[in-house]
Amino acid sequence: MTDYSHVPVMRDEVLAMLDIRPEGTYIDATVGLGGHSAAILALLGEKGRLLGIDRDEAALTLAAERLGNNRVTLKKAAFADLGDTAKENGIDACDGILLDLGVSMMQLKDHERGFSFQSEHELDMRMDKTQLTSAWHVVNEETEQELARIIYEYGEEPFSRRIARRIVAERKKQKIDTCVQLASIVASACGRRGKTHPATRTFQGLRIAVNREMEQLRSGLESAGALLNEGGRLCVLTYHSLEDRMVKHFMRDGVRDGRFALLTKKPVSACREEVVGNPAARSAKLRGVQRL
Ligand SMILES: C[S@@+](CC[C@H](N)C(=O)[O-])C[C@H]1O[C@@H](n2cnc3c(N)ncnc32)[C@H](O)[C@@H]1O
Repeated sequence: MTDYSHVPVMRDEVLAMLDIRPEGTYIDATVGLGGHSAAILALLGEKGRLLGIDRDEAALTLAAERLGNNRVTLKKAAFADLGDTAKENGIDACDGILLDLGVSMMQLKDHERGFSFQSEHELDMRMDKTQLTSAWHVVNEETEQELARIIYEYGEEPFSRRIARRIVAERKKQKIDTCVQLASIVASACGRRGKTHPATRTFQGLRIAVNREMEQLRSGLESAGALLNEGGRLCVLTYHSLEDRMVKHFMRDGVRDGRFALLTKKPVSACREEVVGNPAARSAKLRGVQRL
């Protein structure tokens, strides 16, 4: 039985920022397990409409179980294609869009998905299982230089070169198949520092590269901005500084061009109580704009 008791990150803050109108049309572009979508649906009236998209088929199956099909349409798509997906589903413009970035707990905790450095399974990390390139391909086939770039740029790992060099040396002896294998190679390359596992940043970098997360975000933000009605709102939850920086610049540029008004001068963070109950909320930042 799926556990639906988890409360989505900053649920109340997101709802307040979206300022849901009961008859409005909304898009949850990262529906995941449907936590935010359920909260939005609870505020929508008979005429209200919600389109939920995710590029993970497994997430959509669980979201469908949770949300039913009353006033919600669920579609498999990447949010970089938000504009086309909305139009294919009869939405030319909408009143609010939510992007809750990154991976879901379901993806992280399902070790067969190969996202976690504790997983004994094959390196994978694909949100969309139909995609051809997985983390295994990146780790075993990319050049040392490209691996170092990915780990430095997307993982913000200061020991990226040392780690990339070690990966390339190890894979010459034997393919690096599993997550735990890679985690121990990274740990041996840079040693343990502080409380977080030494492979945390490397795994983040690989996940971002495998799923082309920065490219997706750039296109997703543009498409979302173009879909909003006058007065419509875009809310984005980010979990690391690279994402937050891109969102901040996108929103700031939109304000400068006269397209948006800021709903948050500074990003909103989760309150202490929420972080204690849900560690995933610790690094979350919420930003929003309104279409002028
Ligand atoms: C943090 S979870 C969302 C959790 C959700 N808000 C909830 O309340 O259950 C992020 C979800 O976004 C999806 N996702 C990430 N990048 C995506 C993209 N570019 N296009 C579509 N879905 C994406 C992931 O598959 C994951 O299910």
